[in-house]
Amino acid sequence: MRRKTVSVIIAIFFSLAVFGQINVQKQFEFAAKQYQGMLASHPDLTQSPQSTNPDGTPNNRTSDWWCSGFFPGSLWYLYEFTGDPIWKEAAERWTMALEKEQYNTGTHDLGFMLYCSFGNGYRLTKNDAYKKIMLNGAKSLATRFDPKVGLIKSWNLFQKKYTYPVIVDNMMNLEFLFWAARETGDKDFYNICITHADNTLKNHFRGDNSSYHVVCYDPKGEVLVKKTFQGAADESPWARGQSWGLYGYTVMYRETKDVKYLTQAQKIAAFILNNPNLPSDKIPYWDYSKPGEMRDASAAAIAASALLELSQYSDKKKKKGYIAVASKMLESLSGSSYRANQGENNNFILMHCTGHKPGNLEIDVPLVYADYYYLEALLRYRKIMAMKLADN
Ligand code: GLY
Repeated sequence: MRRKTVSVIIAIFFSLAVFGQINVQKQFEFAAKQYQGMLASHPDLTQSPQSTNPDGTPNNRTSDWWCSGFFPGSLWYLYEFTGDPIWKEAAERWTMALEKEQYNTGTHDLGFMLYCSFGNGYRLTKNDAYKKIMLNGAKSLATRFDPKVGLIKSWNLFQKKYTYPVIVDNMMNLEFLFWAARETGDKDFYNICITHADNTLKNHFRGDNSSYHVVCYDPKGEVLVKKTFQGAADESPWARGQSWGLYGYTVMYRETKDVKYLTQAQKIAAFILNNPNLPSDKIPYWDYSKPGEMRDASAAAIAASALLELSQYSDKKKKKGYIAVASKMLESLSGSSYRANQGENNNFILMHCTGHKPGNLEIDVPLVYADYYYLEALLRYRKIMAMKLADN
């Protein structure tokens, strides 16, 4: 056998041994079957798949809900993987169903809503109509930034008295503004991202590098209180919040190359990876202070995707650790404990997510964003494995 062939075989064995075995092709084939069922059961474009109700029926939402971009986003990922025009057509229909949200100034979630949908569509098709809608959307999102406070306002009111709450999840909307800055050359979008991320870094993190969920500010940007909304307690590390922070600061480093953001992402990764309450299958409990309670598969899907990107910016040792844990997360999510049987789970891919435990909402259910970040992570995993093989 030629030397090159031998080294490729060794590399494959090494990758499988260290990073587990995830058959991305097989997982996408399964996702395609589930989402064909999802499309067939959702003929109404105003009723976007979100989750499952307590009685087992599908829980759908309208386009102004923060999750409306994830279903079209997953359709774009299916198109990206398969190249099949059937997914492009479906993605286009479900993306355009969100068109009016470009003028929505009542939410900070426009990054989730418009960048996961139109953003992926624009990346894959360069459709100019998408670009116009996204630029309007970015302007709408920027209206929620008050320079005196130095942050994008997440909600308009929290606990009936706080008028400037900011949640760690908000880090996820910055990627959209970075895109707008690049497309327009308008530095304001870029500067909003930097100021928001710097103030979040200053005020949202604890000594152990876990983050608060909600920080409430006064009109001058002074911190009033640090609270939770979806976590177990104000001082506890809500699992999905840690994943949002990890993803958000990884994007900050990608977009700026400022090493302080890389360091922050790596500190968050260390909190997650070294956490004594992270189970051996690497799917977090819904809050890191609640071992033994229900899991949140969405927190794992988001973290897996973020860790795979972060691995590409990190030294050899960290890189290996991040890929190993992300691979384990994907392996667990792809197995029978978390992945649905075909035709079940209201056609979602993943099971066992926790949306809002303290609110007694979306407990042990599928969630549309878990599927989205799972597919994204599988695409990232495939790219990294291909690069590893090409390196050998
Ligand atoms: N607030 C968005 C989430 O539930 O993660």
